[in-house]
Formats: sequence, structure tokens, C-alpha cells
Amino acid sequence: MITQDTIVLWNQVQAPGYYRMGLACAAGFESARPGQFIMLRTGTEAVPLLRRPFSLLGLIREKGVVTGIEILFKVVGKGTERLSRCREGDRLSVIGPLGNAFAVPDTCRQLILVAGGVGVPPIRFLAQSLLEREGGFNRCVVFVGGRTRDDLVCITEFDLPGFLVEVTTDDGSQGNQGLVTQSLERALDAGPADLICACGPWGMLKEVAAIARVRSIACQVSIEAMMACGMGACLGCAVGVCDDDTRYRHVCMDGPIFEAQRLKW
Ligand SMILES: Cc1cc2nc3c(=O)[nH]c(=O)nc-3n(C[C@H](O)[C@H](O)[C@H](O)COP(=O)(O)OP(=O)(O)OC[C@H]3O[C@@H](n4cnc5c(N)ncnc54)[C@H](O)[C@@H]3O)c2cc1C
Ligand code: FES
Repeated sequence: MITQDTIVLWNQVQAPGYYRMGLACAAGFESARPGQFIMLRTGTEAVPLLRRPFSLLGLIREKGVVTGIEILFKVVGKGTERLSRCREGDRLSVIGPLGNAFAVPDTCRQLILVAGGVGVPPIRFLAQSLLEREGGFNRCVVFVGGRTRDDLVCITEFDLPGFLVEVTTDDGSQGNQGLVTQSLERALDAGPADLICACGPWGMLKEVAAIARVRSIACQVSIEAMMACGMGACLGCAVGVCDDDTRYRHVCMDGPIFEAQRLKW
């Protein structure tokens, strides 16, 4: 993990309010893994003072060498609004890669990925990284959900060899109508899974965890918390866990990926 000044390579609108940003990095991300995140200063001025956390969407490679990173963000407040105004050539300070990563065991043959709304980045990075996996999968299904079609970002990037993609929107404007968890349940009724990896809003993750628990399927979730430092100093990102006397873990250091059944939902 290092702190460095990065240069904005691109900052493109993906859908209303969603931006995809490429950042050139001198070093440090060669072995970054899906699920890890960065703490990004959203401009050069002092306000907002605190960096903001963003999951890695992927790595930028030139001739096989990692030269940068990509993130995908949704404008929700001051920091992300400022990020949306960044242009090619702007400099942004980055700390990373931070946190842990999804861990898909070699024995996993039937994998389910679930991405809700702006939960797409780590799931997209994970899907891409699994392409290089020896032996592949017997079944790999990606569920992508959004409120409307405008909340479906980067879905074409899941059109990968061996991956089946199911899209769901709450209002039916694209794909199946309903909640992504309903599509997930239907798929699990049709066939088993060894592991579910998910990222999205807390409510969605809670439901995914419940579905996995009832069916005794291993489940890893990427969760969010308010983060001031991203590296264990402020203790602001505590989350309750069930399996330990201390009963709290820190999302920035112990996460953001957790075994779903460890968390107090
Ligand atoms: C590990 C991690 C990875 C993340 N990855 C992504 C990503 O890939 N793409 C993306 O768009 N967003 C991601 N987020 C959420 C992102 O960090 C917040 O949306 C961002 O910090 C908001 O900053 P702001 O200044 O625009 O909003 P603010 O003005 O600070 O707040 C606006 C709203 O966003 C909520 N919010 C603010 N900070 C956070 C935070 N750290 N976590 C959760 N909610 C917050 C506030 O409760 C408030 O409702 C991630 C968060 C975490 C913890
Ligand atoms: S964000 Fe400061 S301890 Fe986790």
C-alpha cells in the first residue's frame, strides 16, 4: 500500500450520475486483487478534507504491465460531485490498494456473483480475474441488479466466456422485473452453487446472506462503512461480528470482504 499522486486518464459518464475514471499510477497496484479499495482525495483543494473510499473496478495494463487503475463511482455528495468534474490530466492523490479481497477456492466449480447498483466494481474485477483461472467453472452466473436501466453500469463487461449474465431491474425497464435476490433464488432452485460473492447495498447483501444461510452456501460480501482513514487509525468503520468476543471488526482492515455468516445483520 502506498500514497501517490495519480493522473486522471479519463472520466467518462457511464449512465446518469455514474462515472468511470482511469488513473495512471506509478507503482503499487501490480498485485492488487478484486475487492480491494483505494482512499482517493477528490480534488486538490482542502475541502472535503477526508479521502473517499472506492473499490477497484480493474487494473489498466500496457504490454502486460500494470500502469493504472479504474474506478466506477456514483455521485451522491460533495466528494463524488467534485470527482465528476475532474478532467484528463488532473492530479489526484491515492492511497492503496487497501483491505482484503474475495477468495474463490480452487475447489469452487459453481460460482454465483451478485452486483447491485454501484456494487458492480469489485464484482467486475473479480469476474475478469477469474478468466485466468485454471479449469474454469461448471457454472458461473452473474446477477446484476439496479433500480432502473439507468442504474445498470458496465453490464456488457460481464459478457465473458463461460459467464451467464442475468439482469434485473426493480421497474422492469431492462431484464427481469423485480429484485436481484428474486432472480438469485430462482437460479438456486434450478441448480446448486459452491460460493456466492456479492456487493451492493446493505439491504441486498442482508437478503443474499439469508438466502445463502438457508441453503448452506458459502457467501462472501463486500460491505461499506463510513471511512475517515481507511487504514485502522480512526476506528470509525466498526462492524459487528458474531464469532468473536470482541464482537467488532473494522471494514477497512478486516474487510471490506467478509464471510456473510460472520456479520451481525
Ligand atoms: C470499501 C468501500 C468501497 C466503496 N466503493 C465504491 C465504489 O466503487 N463506487 C462508489 O460510487 N462508491 C463506493 N463507495 C461509497 C463511496 O465511498 C461514497 O459514496 C463516497 O464516499 C461519498 O462521498 P461524497 O463526498 O460524495 O458524499 P458525502 O457528502 O460524504 O455523503 C453523501 C451520502 O453518501 C454516504 N456516504 C458517504 N461516505 C460514505 C462511505 N464511506 N461509505 C458509504 N456511504 C457513504 C453518506 O451517508 C451520505 O448519505 C465505497 C465505500 C466503501 C467503504
Ligand atoms: S476507516 Fe478509519 S479505522 Fe477504518
